[in-house]
Amino acid sequence: MSNMLHIEQFDWRNASKQAYAALNRFNNQTRAEVYPEDTPISLEEEMASWRNRPPTWVSELWVAWHGGEIVGTGRVFFRRAEDNQHVAEFSLNVLPRHRCQGLGRELLSRLMDLPLAEGRTSLLAWTTDRVPAGDAFMERLGARHGMLERVSQLELSDLNRDRLDLWLRRAPERAAGFALEFHAGAYPNADIQAIVDLLHVMNDAPREGLELEDERLTVEDVRGWQTWRAERGVVSWTLFAREQATGRLAGFTETFWHPQRPALLQQGGTGVWPDYRNKGLGRWLKAAMIEKVMRDLPQVKRIRTDNANSNAPMLKINYDLGFKHYLTNSAWQVETQRVCAYLAESRTLVPEV
Ligand SMILES: CC(C)(COP(=O)(O)OP(=O)(O)OC[C@H]1O[C@@H](n2cnc3c(N)ncnc32)[C@H](O)[C@@H]1OP(=O)(O)O)[C@@H](O)C(=O)NCCC(=O)NCCS
Repeated sequence: MSNMLHIEQFDWRNASKQAYAALNRFNNQTRAEVYPEDTPISLEEEMASWRNRPPTWVSELWVAWHGGEIVGTGRVFFRRAEDNQHVAEFSLNVLPRHRCQGLGRELLSRLMDLPLAEGRTSLLAWTTDRVPAGDAFMERLGARHGMLERVSQLELSDLNRDRLDLWLRRAPERAAGFALEFHAGAYPNADIQAIVDLLHVMNDAPREGLELEDERLTVEDVRGWQTWRAERGVVSWTLFAREQATGRLAGFTETFWHPQRPALLQQGGTGVWPDYRNKGLGRWLKAAMIEKVMRDLPQVKRIRTDNANSNAPMLKINYDLGFKHYLTNSAWQVETQRVCAYLAESRTLVPEV
């Protein structure tokens, strides 16, 4: 294997086990830069994750090889859907010792064909305050800062147990006429359309300055994500709040857990329809789920969640329970043509990698 750097497209649905192993080693290194205390993701899980992406998921992955190791990746992706047809998301990662040598720019130039061919006029990307180089790179591209996302963590040893108990005691009076229903695994067929409708409440979460449309999810989208999680071994739990008089779903919260990373529970979405807000349903859902996790998954030591920095109601619920700020992510947006102009201008200055 040559020790020269070379970039090629990665066949992410059907790569060899050796290639997936190199990708897995690379991804675990980049994850560890942001979440150093997390357990690495196994090769089997990573392979299942790539191979089972939903059919509505359009993505290309480019990798920079150095000998038998991957030292940089560039990924571009979008959901094939009725909404947000103007946007593609990208993600670039370069190992620290290979940074500031033009590799990020070269990977970016490789992944531009897909958004251009699809007429995607706007590109979105995320950075983290754990790696300030990402912000410098996005500023160099001329990207606009679109949203701050706060990642928070609750060490269960810090949980405000009195408050949790109080919310659980008060819930049946404040939210009289509602009942909670627990569900593990794939959503039940009988309720699937009502659940997909309910998930649209997440469009109410702040998007701050990002130029994005509301998502219009289909049953196929939701089923696709559920299969993807199940195939990689993720245990998905959902709690629904249902109005008993009408049978209508009023709210939900969901969590994800992997037995190979037993100490960490990832909080997914929590939402309550506007008509049903200010009755304590959000608090009830969160508190009841945490109580169940502590009872049935005693291996869990911490819960991680992410919220828009401006999402005051959700942050209030979380911080009242004992969640603490962990890190901050930034979303950036930039016109596709602007990136093309940057690449054209800098291409003349730098030799090919
Ligand atoms: C962002 C990242 C991919 C950049 O990779 P890289 O190979 O170091 O980037 P390049 O060497 O190609 O630099 C491209 C441009 O960004 C600028 N840049 C990159 N890192 C910079 C830094 N730390 N400070 C200032 N400018 C920087 C370069 O000067 C260069 O500008 P030029 O075209 O005028 O020469 C890398 O830092 C990384 O992996 N960060 C973590 C993940 C991340 O945040 N990705 C970005 C969003 S998806």
